Amino acid sequence: MGVSSDELKSLAIVVKCVQEFEELTSNFYDMLSSKLDDRSKSLPLKWISVESDSHAVLMRSIYELLGIETSGVDCSKLVGTPWHVLEELMKSIESGGFDISDILSKLEFVEGFFGEETYNKLLIAMLRRLMVKEFGDVLDEILSEVVDEEKYHESIIKLLKRGGGSTTN
Ligand SMILES: [Fe+2]
Ligand SMILES: [Fe+2]
Repeated sequence: MGVSSDELKSLAIVVKCVQEFEELTSNFYDMLSSKLDDRSKSLPLKWISVESDSHAVLMRSIYELLGIETSGVDCSKLVGTPWHVLEELMKSIESGGFDISDILSKLEFVEGFFGEETYNKLLIAMLRRLMVKEFGDVLDEILSEVVDEEKYHESIIKLLKRGGGSTTN
């Protein structure tokens, strides 16, 4: 069976929204990292920011090759809870008073949820079905790498929650 244009359009919307969420995530980690004096926390957070940006770049490339315009999509709705959690955290950081252990707990949830629900269950399944003809298994392999990186993000956050590299404070 061929691939319908409706299916491709849905894929383009998901890819676009994942791109936007990864950009939001990258900006968030970058901002958080810059607010922390403790280098044992700021360096790992900066690293996750860079990796999230690379995920966004990959999504933008896939979106461009699909060549389907999507406009008026509310990505905060499509991504759901992780998006709202990040927005909330961003506000709390901007307002000055934030509790790093509370932030890390919420980030642990965001990384785990987004990797599992969005990449694993949604995006990979769609890409496998719609793009395997053109790419074979190679795109699948790249996406598996991204999912692994999401797992690393989650475990890095877990380590930071336990105190990171810093044993003195
Ligand atoms: Fe990511
Ligand atoms: Fe991540």
